[in-house]
Amino acid sequence: MAAVAARAVLASTSASKARRRSDRRHNVLRRASAAATRAPTSTLGEETRKDFPILDQKTESGAQLVYLDNAATSQKPNEVVDAHMFYYKDYNANVHRGVHYLSSKATDAYELARKKIANFVNAKTDREIVFTRNASEAINLVANTWGSKYIKAGDEIILSVLEHHSNIVPWQLLAERTGCVLKFVKLTDTQELDVDELRSLVNERTKLITTAHVSNVTGGEAPVAEIVKLARGVGAKVLLDACQSLPHMKVDVQTLGVDWIVGSGHKMCGPTGIGFLWGRLDVLESMPPWMGGGEMIADVFLEKSTYAEPPGRFEAGTPAIAEAIALGKACDYLTRIGMDRIHDYEVEIGTYLYERLSEVPGVTIYGPPPARGRASLCAFNVDGVHPNDVCTLLDQSGIACRSGHHCTQPLHRYLGVPGSARASLYFYNVPADVDAFIDALRSTIEFFSEFE
Ligand SMILES: Cc1ncc(COP(=O)(O)O)c(C=O)c1O
Repeated sequence: MAAVAARAVLASTSASKARRRSDRRHNVLRRASAAATRAPTSTLGEETRKDFPILDQKTESGAQLVYLDNAATSQKPNEVVDAHMFYYKDYNANVHRGVHYLSSKATDAYELARKKIANFVNAKTDREIVFTRNASEAINLVANTWGSKYIKAGDEIILSVLEHHSNIVPWQLLAERTGCVLKFVKLTDTQELDVDELRSLVNERTKLITTAHVSNVTGGEAPVAEIVKLARGVGAKVLLDACQSLPHMKVDVQTLGVDWIVGSGHKMCGPTGIGFLWGRLDVLESMPPWMGGGEMIADVFLEKSTYAEPPGRFEAGTPAIAEAIALGKACDYLTRIGMDRIHDYEVEIGTYLYERLSEVPGVTIYGPPPARGRASLCAFNVDGVHPNDVCTLLDQSGIACRSGHHCTQPLHRYLGVPGSARASLYFYNVPADVDAFIDALRSTIEFFSEFE
């Protein structure tokens, strides 16, 4: 451990819904903050752990693995892994293209997955779900189809400084192509999106407001109702990056009233390589295709082609069939537990994490306090220690945390730090995971204090 830690030191020195739902959520938040530093009473973590055998292992250093990198990617329950494997073992065939038995079976399973995702987000119809590789591709799809058709020089798109790079760069590329202007809303004292500033930026040139539903760094939740109201006032569209909300709380697209949401399967117990775009059907119907190929056409002639209706219009080529089916299974799994139950538990254990971390001297946690509502993650820094070094030492104790800019360089610049460490929980984490993390962090800080 000392050798690795010393290497780490060297590294650092060298690099030196609806109101009812919302009322209910706030009651849970109030209860949770009153129970500060008390471990959660719910046993959801213990109940679900058996579904994730991957958690039951020792790391290279011989320590028990404590997986706290769920905001980057979640673990997958057995039934999701099985669903993925069964497709290849039992009915592997291409979809939509064959009349034979296996192809029909694969097509039915693929289209059933679309229905499951539609139900998961309460879409009006499964035609509103477009499968993509991930959330990044879904945002690029909107920027390249809707953006290319409707955005022109001088139009304005409003984002915030806390966006993931996936929700910045596609709009920068669109701005380069069209000459539209990007405007960025700053944050309040509690590091939440500043609605007053947003209000001052919205005008008749605003064509889109887009932000993360929940930030992967501050854990704060966007004021969606206010954003939608402001956008509708000037006829602008709203795209919500729901990567960090979909796995953790009920996301109801009809209640949210936005135009698009994007999600990544791998963060919500599904496989990598699959994500989705939900778009209101009339909005999807107004969008031209992006990538050309099989499946997305109605008729192809040598001179020109006509295009399929959504969602097929946006799914050129052979899709990620096994991954889509497994994501549908992940939606079944999460729905069976109950998204409200998952959210309530995460409020409790997330508050426990926040309160215990706040007690550690020299630690700065980013984002709003639990009483204002925050996701079950904490991005933080330790005075005088590089976050990479913090996480390298935590790893020696089996604690898997992430360090770096978490694909939010502008946010870290805004916060005045090069990066941060991040512990992010999911419903299968237990209070003992938080305790192990805090103990290891205290030892890490003690170790580094010897080098001061
Ligand atoms: C808030 C947010 N948006 C977008 C993404 C991008 O997701 P993906 O890399 O799966 O496209 C992430 C992933 O970390 C995220 O946390």
